[in-house]
Amino acid sequence: MSDNQALLDFSKEEKIPDDLIKHAAKLRHDLQYHDQLYYDKATPEISDRDYDRLYRELVDLEKKHPLLITKNSPTQRVREKSQGFQSASHLVPMQSLDNTYSEQEVLDFIKRLHKLLPEEKISLTIEPKIDGVAIALLYRDGKLVRGMTRGDGVKGDDVTRNIEMISNIPKVLKGKVPTLLEVRGEVYLSKKMFLQLNAERDEEGLPVFANPRNAAAGSLKQLDPAIVKERHLAAIFYGYGAIEGNSISTQRAFIEALRSWGFPTHPSVDHARTAEEALAAIQRLGNVRHNYTFETDGAVLKVEELAQRKRLGSTSKAPRWAIAFKYEPEQATTRLLAITVQVGRSGVLTPVAELEPVVVAGSKVSRATLHNVEEIKRKDLRIGDEVVIEKAGEVIPAVVSVVKEKRNGSEKIFQMPGHCPVCHTAAIKKEGEVALRCINPDCPAQLRRRIEYFACRQAMDIAGLGEAVVAQLIEVGLLKSVADLYHLHAEQLLPLERMGEKSVENLIKAIDQSRHQPFWRLLVALGIPHVGVTAARTLAERFHTLEKLSAASIEELCAIEEIGEIMARSINEALRQPTMKKLLEDLQIAGVNFGEEDPVVYDVEGPLQGTIWVITGSLSQSRDEIAEHIRSAGGKVSSSISAKTTYLLAGEAAGSKLIRAQKLGVAVIDEAAFRVLIAEK
Ligand code: IVH
Repeated sequence: MSDNQALLDFSKEEKIPDDLIKHAAKLRHDLQYHDQLYYDKATPEISDRDYDRLYRELVDLEKKHPLLITKNSPTQRVREKSQGFQSASHLVPMQSLDNTYSEQEVLDFIKRLHKLLPEEKISLTIEPKIDGVAIALLYRDGKLVRGMTRGDGVKGDDVTRNIEMISNIPKVLKGKVPTLLEVRGEVYLSKKMFLQLNAERDEEGLPVFANPRNAAAGSLKQLDPAIVKERHLAAIFYGYGAIEGNSISTQRAFIEALRSWGFPTHPSVDHARTAEEALAAIQRLGNVRHNYTFETDGAVLKVEELAQRKRLGSTSKAPRWAIAFKYEPEQATTRLLAITVQVGRSGVLTPVAELEPVVVAGSKVSRATLHNVEEIKRKDLRIGDEVVIEKAGEVIPAVVSVVKEKRNGSEKIFQMPGHCPVCHTAAIKKEGEVALRCINPDCPAQLRRRIEYFACRQAMDIAGLGEAVVAQLIEVGLLKSVADLYHLHAEQLLPLERMGEKSVENLIKAIDQSRHQPFWRLLVALGIPHVGVTAARTLAERFHTLEKLSAASIEELCAIEEIGEIMARSINEALRQPTMKKLLEDLQIAGVNFGEEDPVVYDVEGPLQGTIWVITGSLSQSRDEIAEHIRSAGGKVSSSISAKTTYLLAGEAAGSKLIRAQKLGVAVIDEAAFRVLIAEK
């Protein structure tokens, strides 16, 4: 309020019309509201495009009437805030970029460069603009010491623990490294992981992320590093804040240096010397960007020569040597014909939009998940509405908004049914969840999804047990529980549709063989919330058997380096559920592998055959990658030290494991010695 008061006083001198003052205040208010949804809650209500439009309107207004600028105007600060992390100052402030959707403004930008640096040759690099979360990582003498988010540009959150969980971020650099390096880049969630994450969140009755950027931001701010690890974030680096002990003069040379130190960089960087070349490069990137594993929302144009950048300098918010050109989102409008309801494996009821078929970004779309009833309310969707469709993560169609002007009054408000559409059991809402659930454990729709999940490639990997087969087996009454799979006979399957002798034989064999799948696969297949492949492998290595895992307390689970409290509680709770206990009993009777007391050394021939390894400390590759080397060389990896451990591979800053290994007399070797061992024949 005092903000507006000051404005009113100023306006007397400049005579800014009242309605403009009010309009600027409204824009500030709206932008602040959307900032909060975007940054703090990761649940934006408007598209980036619409946000940029509002933002641009305020910038233009403030340009015309500088007295309208207030200290708290969203145009005057870079925002990003969160709770639960220590805040720390950046060595050099992290600025943002000026954005544009117009080619003309790109041309204006290049013209301005030439005006500021008359008579000089100016080369530009054109890089993909990853739609992720900006981060700054500090390396001293080649070792990662701190990872931070942008925050307000001056101070950010210290998210080092979470950064350490991102496998393509080097913890120790290679080659001749600067004494001090603060690199900048983007943490992102691949389109594939984004879709997987949202599908899981739907299943768990949690709100979904609107796009990969929000998902990456939400993941990086997790207080449980185990969950960060499970999300499989990745990063790409393109810039620096501070660098000491190195002399690099161009962006091209810097990117090459980044690569040589072990950082992941952009798959392709283009170059331009003229305005025409720059526009052509933007177009080229526009054509290939959909092929990238990460979502890009634009192209970043940067002056190539670092000395020129220095002379160009920056405004209070953004450098004068760079600009981001943003691509228009690919959208289409169509009619929402109906909303149907699907049942997930844990009983969550998911509303699905049935759409008049329409082509978006090259493929036909006729259905889109609406996630939950809160989303429908938030977007005010009504049956019969004309709706805007976009591809979330550039893959899965999503309903973005309603074209309200096209309403004629015949549109109907959707009511979520109070019961399961398949088994008709009353649906309930659990505390803290947005979703309604069918709570009938024998619901055939839930059973179908549970069996599909149990058999999928990441879990028990039963080839030939696809959706159509599962649906038939449930319909004819052959499957009443997941464990019934192990009692199927060929004669029962032969009469089913599209099941020949050969496919029946193969399916029976695949089911039979799945009994001997490694124990971690069973842990994935059980569908415990938060437990994916990575956590399942860790748990199996640590506890060896289901019996021991079931007996573990929350404290014991939390004591494992890679398991946090949220995951620990989830495991503890899931394994105590009566329905889970019954399923486990049946699976055990069916002869499914529940793990073995002593770790079995992999029977892979290689230099490490017969050895058991524990890995600790910072190494030049992620722990998963090193573990893979060990396994493929015939060794076994365990997460805890015991008298049976052959070697402890200790990197930098090894802690309690090193002490324990020394106490138990376990051989400790460093990475260099390890590399020699695995290279031996
Ligand atoms: S250069 C002074 N290069 O987009 C800031 N930024 O909207 C220099 N971004 O703040 C940033 N890809 O977080 C740069 N290839 C790229 C980028 C990139 C994504 C992000 C970055 C930036 C934001 C601006």
